[in-house]
Amino acid sequence: MSERTLVLIKPDAVSRGLVGEILSRYERKNLTIVAMEQRTIDSALADAHYAEHVEKPFYPGLRDFITSAPLVALVLEGDQAIDVVRKMNGATDSRVADPGTIRGDLSISKSENLVHASDSTESAKRELALWFPELD
Ligand code: TYD
Ligand code: MG
Repeated sequence: MSERTLVLIKPDAVSRGLVGEILSRYERKNLTIVAMEQRTIDSALADAHYAEHVEKPFYPGLRDFITSAPLVALVLEGDQAIDVVRKMNGATDSRVADPGTIRGDLSISKSENLVHASDSTESAKRELALWFPELD
């Protein structure tokens, strides 16, 4: 079943010049880019996006990082896109993410791990409405 998922190419990836490399992986997988925009977000959007994490000890650092510089937000569409993109991104901690994944191949940091993707149907629905309210 075709699904949409919200992806963020985070500030570390943008500043390292990895946007093309990361987009290319999604395109080669035959996912469709439905929308895409470079943005520098404020702490209100960061807090809303990471609502499940705002009380966690790592959140102040995460908020500083995600608001520090431009990121690229995009919507990808394809069959089982939510799970497919999570698998392509790899484990949260890039130090242990499998080779072949974006994080496993291109990052060695637990916190600056290049990409975000929605983790469930419910998260995708919420995040798509938050980032791209103009889409149905
Ligand atoms: P999380 O939603 O658990 O991971 P994912 O991005 O794989 O869905 O956490 C959100 C982000 O918070 C994660 O990408 C990196 C950062 N983070 C830390 O910096 N330290 C941590 O201990 C955790 C769990 C996450
Ligand atoms: Mg998450």
